[in-house]
Amino acid sequence: MNELHIDKCQILFGDKGIASLDEYLEKNAENITKIIILGDTNSFEHALVPLVERLEHLGEYEMIEIDPGEENKNIDTCTQLWETLAEIGADRRSLLINVGGGVVCDMGGYVASCYMRGIRFINIPTTLLSQVDASVGGKTGVDLGQLKNIVGLFTLPEMVVVSSLFLSTLPQREILSGFAEMIKHGLIMSEKHWKELSSQADFSLEKIEKLVYDSVKIKYDVVLQDPHEKGIRKALNFGHTIGHAIEGHLMNTQNAISHGHAVAVGMVSEVWLSTKICGLDEHFATSFKEYIKEMYPLANITEDDLPDVMSLMAHDKKNTERGINFSLLKNIGEVSIDHYIPEETIKEAIRFYIS
Ligand SMILES: NC(=O)c1ccc[n+]([C@@H]2O[C@H](COP(=O)([O-])OP(=O)(O)OC[C@H]3O[C@@H](n4cnc5c(N)ncnc54)[C@H](O)[C@@H]3O)[C@@H](O)[C@H]2O)c1
Repeated sequence: MNELHIDKCQILFGDKGIASLDEYLEKNAENITKIIILGDTNSFEHALVPLVERLEHLGEYEMIEIDPGEENKNIDTCTQLWETLAEIGADRRSLLINVGGGVVCDMGGYVASCYMRGIRFINIPTTLLSQVDASVGGKTGVDLGQLKNIVGLFTLPEMVVVSSLFLSTLPQREILSGFAEMIKHGLIMSEKHWKELSSQADFSLEKIEKLVYDSVKIKYDVVLQDPHEKGIRKALNFGHTIGHAIEGHLMNTQNAISHGHAVAVGMVSEVWLSTKICGLDEHFATSFKEYIKEMYPLANITEDDLPDVMSLMAHDKKNTERGINFSLLKNIGEVSIDHYIPEETIKEAIRFYIS
């Protein structure tokens, strides 16, 4: 598995990646005044020890622990983090190491990039979702109330280390959440990746490292072509237009589902839309629905939920004055961006999942 580069940012994999981080710490020791490790309760419980015991050149470090969960990914937590950084004397030559899922990496990256107009940071993603998705692309930020990721920056870490070492403690719900983003990468860009993923009878951690690399590489290739989402990067939104709305609708209810689970549901509906709009094979829509329904618990969506889901979709960041924007599939592994679809057709697509 080769290392990948976006500008100065290295994306490194497996044990070799952890060894490179250790080398980085050794090489920059003179140049780093303070190392601060940021994590949440779960990532510290499960990932901190395996990481630090492999880093001979880490030396002394401070720890900042936050409560887990999307509800803490907000500007109030950022303010607390900036205050803590100031209290412990972090300066421009300090290094922040984010150890955690997408919440920790997104928020830690944003906090580091604003503190003293930007200090260096490194991401160690510890969930499958953050490894295959949030690890690449330079998006950092926080939520503002119900508005997801509305405050943030494009900014790159020094380094990202992606290792399966941290995945063995992940609950199944979180594994499935990340797996949905991997499926998406296959469907939009690589039939081969899709076939490899869908032929996994059991998603074993032994095989996962190579699959994670392939998935990261797909996102990496897209991001390199279009870092600021003016064109082809929109391909990564496949499954997300309907998925985000369903995720938001169920959020804070007893039927809440993970981000990836919502994307899986969204992909079923958007595969159906792809058959109507882009000529994707209709048999695939049916078999894909069965595949997702077997793997993921049924999302609790009924006809009665459609008005609210549609109203949430109308507020999606990706929309323009032309309407609700979709990335769809022409074929498996071939995406087509910028489709604007009438509301009634979108409802039909959601009904296809429900039925
Ligand atoms: N920047 C990007 O490009 C990008 C892309 C996709 C998603 N995101 C963001 O990522 C976030 C979702 O990421 P996520 O799914 O990783 O969520 P998360 O960070 O909330 O992590 C999910 C859960 O796993 C726990 N956890 C973390 N590491 C663990 C480990 N090793 N063992 C056991 N439990 C562990 C966390 O404490 C949390 O409870 C969202 O905020 C989303 O907006 C960002």
